[in-house]
Amino acid sequence: MDENNILEVDGLKKFFPNRKGFFNRISSFNKAVNDISLHIKKGETVGLVGESGSGKTTVGRCIVKLFPPTAGKITYNFNGKILDISRTPEHQIKDFRKNFQMLFQDVYSSLDPKMRILDIVTEPLAIHNIGTQKERFNKACELITRVGLSPDDLQKYPHQFSGGQRQRIGITRALSSQPKFIVCDEPVSALDVSVQAQILNLLLDLRKDFNLSYLFIAHDLGVVKYFSDRIIVMYLGKIVEVAPAENIYTAPKHPYTEALLAAISKYKVGSERKILLQGSIPDPSKPPTGCVLQPRCKYALDVCRQKVPALLPVPNKNDSFVACHRSSELNLESYSSK
Ligand SMILES: Nc1ncnc2c1ncn2[C@@H]1O[C@H](COP(=O)(O)OP(=O)(O)OP(=O)(O)O)[C@@H](O)[C@H]1O
Ligand SMILES: [Mg+2]
Repeated sequence: MDENNILEVDGLKKFFPNRKGFFNRISSFNKAVNDISLHIKKGETVGLVGESGSGKTTVGRCIVKLFPPTAGKITYNFNGKILDISRTPEHQIKDFRKNFQMLFQDVYSSLDPKMRILDIVTEPLAIHNIGTQKERFNKACELITRVGLSPDDLQKYPHQFSGGQRQRIGITRALSSQPKFIVCDEPVSALDVSVQAQILNLLLDLRKDFNLSYLFIAHDLGVVKYFSDRIIVMYLGKIVEVAPAENIYTAPKHPYTEALLAAISKYKVGSERKILLQGSIPDPSKPPTGCVLQPRCKYALDVCRQKVPALLPVPNKNDSFVACHRSSELNLESYSSK
């Protein structure tokens, strides 16, 4: 493992069985995540972007051990302690687990309505047996203030808060075990546009204050623009492009990235952003032959229907990779804010 990395994912697959008929037999597999590899450097924020159903949440859940992977390695490096969590039994990673957390997409269902805020935000500490009750309370007071709420709020219940406040509570919970890495799964997509920027700014400040690394999931390239050091573009369970954030916007190399950029150029902030591709995302149980995008791609040739493109380095561009047979000959349109 590279010592500058906090996380390395190698050959990750997550297949969900589809069951059918009277005997509930497995008829096929939904290949939600189909052989992806990625790394995150210490202190880095990596954006993971793709349409609904492309497998982003599934990647996030595997990485924080909420889903067991079908195959692949997930290796963390926390202060020189290196562990492949996909192979290590749960009881052996207890101490290690507090280092990574997940912030959820749906702020309305991710907080248990019957639990007091104090119990919600100190739950990770209780699970990991960290601190006395008094110490946990003090930590909760400190963190809830840091995210812009008040210690009095700890005695309340989730229904007493707005969406933005609930996400601040979710953030407090994620921070309580003093993690070094957080998967932020579309943390603002369920919120009003007016509060989205506040939550994003809070996450940026916290990253600096607590020296965090993020995997930041979003379904379009609008939100992650000011947030990510590198961006991974995912489609139908595969990574199609990876590059430093700036290159993704100024020099996209994959037709799918071009389509995502066209969507943010064309639609104003707050309006619904449609992906400008023919048709819709196919059933991941029956992925197309060759390139995953080929049935929807206006540049597709026979080779695209016949051969799976490998994710290969882009010549003369550091840290950039693309999986497209035609990327070197295509002149794709970059982001225009007009
Ligand atoms: N627990 C599950 N059981 C069975 N199938 C699942 C499960 N979770 C996700 N899937 C399937 O895996 C595929 C990828 O879903 P996932 O939620 O990871 O996509 P996503 O990119 O996060 O989409 P969104 O932007 O809508 O959140 C979808 O086809 C979905 O139906
Ligand atoms: Mg999701």
